[in-house]
Amino acid sequence: MSKNILWIAILALLVSCQDKIVSESSTTTTSEQATKAPAASETPKTSSMQESAKDTAVVNKAAADKAAADKAAADKVAADKAAADKAAADKVAADKAAADKAAADNKKVVAPVIQGKQPIKQQPNPAPSEIMLKADSGMTLAKANGLTKKCKSCHATDKDKVGPSFKKIQAAYGSANALTAVFESGFAVESRKVAMADAKWKKKAKTMTSQYKNLIQKQVKKGKLTYKEMAEAIFAK
Ligand code: HEC
Repeated sequence: MSKNILWIAILALLVSCQDKIVSESSTTTTSEQATKAPAASETPKTSSMQESAKDTAVVNKAAADKAAADKAAADKVAADKAAADKAAADKVAADKAAADKAAADNKKVVAPVIQGKQPIKQQPNPAPSEIMLKADSGMTLAKANGLTKKCKSCHATDKDKVGPSFKKIQAAYGSANALTAVFESGFAVESRKVAMADAKWKKKAKTMTSQYKNLIQKQVKKGKLTYKEMAEAIFAK
């Protein structure tokens, strides 16, 4: 009997102990849950971290984009500058080539009329006849030589022969247009500037009158030349 009581007592103790263990384990579970609770709250924390990471990535991307845009802008400025520099250099080269060509043309006295485009200072001290030539038409030295071929038996460029030099005639008339006007009006002795300025030449006016009729007036009427061309030919020499 006492043995039974002992067993009961042991059983009771066991049961009470188990209760305690269960209760403790439940406490543990609660405390574990309590420990886990903050872990659960980690989820939002983690997502907030992810978000902030995302933000950082966005910011970084924006910065990278801006840097790329800045670089592109800088590249464009550099490219524009290079293009502008090249254009300027090309223009200078082209201007120089044009100036060189003009200078070469001037030397040949075959200069095309480039009025207003060429600064006068680019032509160092051009002879007065060259200025007149350019102001008039495209008379070339070769053409002038052809037109004055028959005049040369009595006229030279720089010295007097049977008639006054072409340089003297140029000085007396000043321009091919002035001489053209006198040729056109019939070349009356009173209109001739050289003859009217120097009695020596006036005495020989008749010689030139017959030359004018044969070599100039008749040829113009035949359409072989114009008074203007004849005058320009004298001014080209
Ligand atoms: C046979 C000789 C002779 C020939 C050829 C001749 N001339 Fe003359 N020329 C003279 C003499 C002389 C004078 C000076 C008299 C005078 O001025 O009218 C003169 C004067 C001139 C003058 C200056 C006129 C003045 O007094 O202002 C002109 C311009 C001129 N000649 C143009 C020509 C032309 C152009 C030719 C050729 C198409 C030519 N002559 C052929 C003898 C000639």
